[in-house]
Amino acid sequence: MNEEQRRASQQVKEPKDYSKYFEKVFTAPSLKDAKKRGKEDIKYHKDFTIDEAFLQMGVGRKFYIRTYGCQMNEHDTEVMAGIFASLGYEATTNIEEADVVLLNTCAIRENAENKVFGELGFLLKYKRKNPDMLIGVCGCMSQEEAVVNKILKQYQHVDMVFGTHNIHRLPNILKDAYLSKEMVVEVWSKEGDVIESLPKKRNGSIKAWVNIMYGCDKFCTYCIVPYTRGKERSRRPEEIIQEVRELAAQGYKEIMLLGQNVNAYGKDFEDSTYRLGDLMDELRTIDIPRIRFTTSHPRDFDDHLIEVLAKGGNLVEHIHLPVQSGSNDILKIMARKYTREHFLALVDKIKVAMPNVTLTTDIIVGYPNETEAQFEETLDLYRQVGFDMAFTYIYSPREGTPAAKMVDNVSDEEKKSRLHRLNDVVAEFSGKALKKLEGQVVEVLVEGSSKRRDDVLAGYTRSNRLVNFEADVPAEELVGKLVHVRVVEAKTHSLQGEFIEVVK
Ligand code: SAH
Ligand code: SF4
Ligand code: F3S
Repeated sequence: MNEEQRRASQQVKEPKDYSKYFEKVFTAPSLKDAKKRGKEDIKYHKDFTIDEAFLQMGVGRKFYIRTYGCQMNEHDTEVMAGIFASLGYEATTNIEEADVVLLNTCAIRENAENKVFGELGFLLKYKRKNPDMLIGVCGCMSQEEAVVNKILKQYQHVDMVFGTHNIHRLPNILKDAYLSKEMVVEVWSKEGDVIESLPKKRNGSIKAWVNIMYGCDKFCTYCIVPYTRGKERSRRPEEIIQEVRELAAQGYKEIMLLGQNVNAYGKDFEDSTYRLGDLMDELRTIDIPRIRFTTSHPRDFDDHLIEVLAKGGNLVEHIHLPVQSGSNDILKIMARKYTREHFLALVDKIKVAMPNVTLTTDIIVGYPNETEAQFEETLDLYRQVGFDMAFTYIYSPREGTPAAKMVDNVSDEEKKSRLHRLNDVVAEFSGKALKKLEGQVVEVLVEGSSKRRDDVLAGYTRSNRLVNFEADVPAEELVGKLVHVRVVEAKTHSLQGEFIEVVK
């Protein structure tokens, strides 16, 4: 029975008065607590349920969530949308008619945070028009002390702030926000739990995200994620396999397994040596055309995983493997815990086992005191590996991380110029990789019409390259299907092709 059916069968009446449930909450984040590791046991909550008294809270009300940041955040939004639906709320894409507006935020770089503060300022206009509107801030920014203090001082039209460990508490937080005249703040700075059976309302019916683990213990010196997401903790394999099986049965065609550092999957299991390779080997047997995962950390990428991925089938030959820098000195102060040589050896091993592999990466330029020679080592490594594509960033200091305390002698101008030079190399390689596909037949999972033209269909290859193509078959017959497309022309960021046939 799903949540909606359960609600219908229970016929719960809305209590007139929620006040007996009211627990005035004010738990602000603590960086000191967020840093701790190993003191708390991971609590494994098997069956999440919503208190009956809340089940009608949203009837006649609408919610709107704006999501920033990574796929993990996107998936958290799907969980929150599931909780809202269980409470009787309806989704809207129009902020003006929303009764609850949530900003699910990202703290990874300063510009990500600035966007959110800009949006919060903008929301004041809507709040003035509709004073009953509830405005909430959740996601990684709410785990930061400085952010919560700033919201308390400068954005008093915000009604609730809750953290990444508090998502399952959304019903209680909403109820408190309805009753309280003051801002409700509930941010736990804990190592984190694993909560199963949370309702989810997925976006789309072709590709689905599935969490396999939460948190990160790597503490790269520039990164805020270990503070905002807690300690590394894995979902049990049987829960993941069951979820993927259900998604396959529902007709989903592609699964993206999620974790900040998926290669550490299973390391927290005290009772087994089960790791990502074992999980992939089991998922391989499920009848679903494509399975991917993100994000890999080069340090924990083991031989068994490579061996399993090389079996192919529904395990796609695309690995996103962030390298961050090609300089051993910079890797060391980043605390990445691998060397350039180790990374290159890993890439060689992967290429030998999977000759068709597509590798993509993340790179940070302008790390504190990065020299021109060190930056050039990154360009050199990029060329040596021949990545297909990369996400590239200028280093952004994050308050509370060790790197933020480092004195930095690289000017903004120099950082911008390095980013520019790196992006030229990235474009050169991605252009070459696309060009190589001209004339070839690729497998495309069709997602819908292209952004610009209705009569052009769009989808992605197994290596996650965007393909646009025209077909003389009606779109409805192809959307959600795997098709063969002949690549006619390589564009800057995508491929242009012509439809051949449906594969599956
Ligand atoms: N867990 C993933 C990374 C998640 S963050 C991993 O380790 O690969 C995504 C990317 O953002 C990182 O790979 C890094 O390149 C970039 N990033 C993280 N913190 C940053 C910072 N302070 N400044 C600039 N870029 C950063
Ligand atoms: Fe951040 Fe490093 Fe963890 Fe990735 S592995 S989330 S970069 S601390
Ligand atoms: Fe951003 Fe948090 Fe993801 S900081 S990148 S939303 S884990």
